[in-house]
Amino acid sequence: MRIVITGANGQLGYELRVVLAEHNLVLLDVPAFDVTRSDVERKIAEVRPDVVIHAAAFTNVDGAESEPQRAMAVNVEGTERVARAAADSGARLVYLSTDYVFDGSKQTPYLERDEANPLNVYGQTKLEGERRALVRHSNTVVVRTAWLYGMHGRNFVKTIAQAASTQSELRVVDDQRGSPTHAGDLARAIKAILGTDLKGVVHAMGSGDCTWHEFASEIVSLIGSPARVVPVSTAEMARPARRPAYSVLANTILAGQGIRLPHWKDALAQFLKQAKVKVEAK
Ligand SMILES: NC(=O)c1ccc[n+]([C@@H]2O[C@H](COP(=O)([O-])OP(=O)(O)OC[C@H]3O[C@@H](n4cnc5c(N)ncnc54)[C@H](OP(=O)(O)O)[C@@H]3O)[C@@H](O)[C@H]2O)c1
Repeated sequence: MRIVITGANGQLGYELRVVLAEHNLVLLDVPAFDVTRSDVERKIAEVRPDVVIHAAAFTNVDGAESEPQRAMAVNVEGTERVARAAADSGARLVYLSTDYVFDGSKQTPYLERDEANPLNVYGQTKLEGERRALVRHSNTVVVRTAWLYGMHGRNFVKTIAQAASTQSELRVVDDQRGSPTHAGDLARAIKAILGTDLKGVVHAMGSGDCTWHEFASEIVSLIGSPARVVPVSTAEMARPARRPAYSVLANTILAGQGIRLPHWKDALAQFLKQAKVKVEAK
């Protein structure tokens, strides 16, 4: 298959390159390919893709609060452009979305059919991106994921591992619950999705759930750091964007297809082993 990957230099983009290496990949990212520009349709059409995986996004959750127009241009209008291009080319579209489309008022895992109600600009623009993609192109799979980390780019795992090697105490919020997802596992799930005829919204996140504090504690323990991880509340760690207190999603539809992502603890242990992140105990 000829597969276009937008956001190919991002965390997920890098993992997709590895996992889908047997295919004919066309890797697109800024500055040469910018979804806010009018040449998006032409650039995708001339490739004649079978599949477009749209991973490019404005992903700075707090930054979106101060730059809502930019977030809208990339996540909504950019997605619409990519969806139109995929439709015109007869290519299947895979659009990446987020757990932050939900408000967190549920206390059991969100299902694909549950009503979305984002609390922040990032979530609002990603949700509107979902809607535009589904309206523009019937052959679309929206893949909602969460708490992504991988070898490339900045992410929570790297930040905590780095902080734990220089600080004796880390303060991490303990009242937001979600599911850490290794970008490599997500890339493998996307590959499996390409082997199905799924359409519409699916959830794809690491199995199990935890708070950010539990996640950080596991990282610190696995790298052998003596740093203390102190639980704090969201209110104590004021951030520009509101975040859902509970954003665990059930991968119901993928499970029905036999597609499963590993438990977050197993995925994290594997990742840290590969990344060779180790701090000598003092
Ligand atoms: N990271 C998470 O925790 C998370 C959670 C849920 C869902 N998601 C979704 O999963 C997808 C992949 O996330 P990720 O973590 O791999 O994101 P990422 O590392 O931020 O990668 C996104 C890529 O898109 C590029 N990009 C930004 N603006 C663009 C534009 N106007 N035109 C073309 N490319 C542009 C970025 O370039 P620059 O770096 O130069 O801006 C970056 O290379 C995104 O759709 C995201 O919304 C992520």
